[in-house]
Amino acid sequence: MVTNKPSCIGQSLVVSFGLYRRRYETRVPNLGECADMKRDHPDVFGQMLIDASAGIDVREIVEREDHFLVSGLPVSRYLTSYKEWPLVQQKAITLAKGRVLDIGCGAGRHSLYLQENGFDVTGLDISPKAIQLCRERGLKKTVLMSIDRISISLGKFDTILLLENNFGLLENSAKAKRLLGKFYLATSETGRIIAQSSDPYTSQDPDTLDYQKTNRANNRMSGQLKMRLRYRRLISSWFDYLLVSKGEMREILKGTGWKVRRFLEFDHWSYVAVIEKLQKKPAKSSVRQM
Ligand SMILES: C[S@@+](CC[C@H](N)C(=O)[O-])C[C@H]1O[C@@H](n2cnc3c(N)ncnc32)[C@H](O)[C@@H]1O
Repeated sequence: MVTNKPSCIGQSLVVSFGLYRRRYETRVPNLGECADMKRDHPDVFGQMLIDASAGIDVREIVEREDHFLVSGLPVSRYLTSYKEWPLVQQKAITLAKGRVLDIGCGAGRHSLYLQENGFDVTGLDISPKAIQLCRERGLKKTVLMSIDRISISLGKFDTILLLENNFGLLENSAKAKRLLGKFYLATSETGRIIAQSSDPYTSQDPDTLDYQKTNRANNRMSGQLKMRLRYRRLISSWFDYLLVSKGEMREILKGTGWKVRRFLEFDHWSYVAVIEKLQKKPAKSSVRQM
């Protein structure tokens, strides 16, 4: 039986998972993070991962706010090993160095690969069930937390991973700049971000082109998305997501203390950016104290 009863102890929240009589704990740095657990909404993505790991053929159904169904890819891809990853991720992972923070780690496939190869890696995710699965799959360091709460309290990292389009977790240009400021403080002097995104302008789908047009009319970036996940009878809460072209990513990075060193690309729409720190510190406004 899986139990997932959060309890607050001192300044930490400890979430316990019991599965097949094994017990794990994931520590959340302060009580403020209790709110991130979205206990009012089902952990749809986590449940999809748990079922896929039990061998069920789960398909990822993403509903955009205009009711367009975005995808139908197998969730089992989040459980794959290195050899099955897209080439762009195989290449990207070789660029990780030092202490690594894998943001939105899911079932931990990238973190586990790095851990097996001797890296000090921490998997961070907002989904309690995803973190539970990471622990069961052997990931030693996990944090149950929203990207919004990342702070220096986790220590300094040399690499931040945002793979499988996880640059999208930055949601919009203003929030991205704020989070990049936090990443600046949470990384070493030679820190880097390895971030994957997809160019929204490569879409030829008429409904998607309409959606992008409406976005622009509402002063939103073309690739801003409001979506939710559907799985069996479960529906997640709506969440924001961002797809950017390479030029837009460069634009967002301006003034944050980060710059694209190079892009890795293996198909016409998905790419990975290797983002490095500028020598000169950015203005204080974009790097706030955490
Ligand atoms: C597309 S999956 C990618 C998983 C993993 N990186 C992989 O490639 O297998 C996105 C992950 O981000 C997590 N996530 C979504 N919103 C988040 C947030 N605000 N903070 C941290 N993680 C989040 C989801 O729970 C999910 O595990």
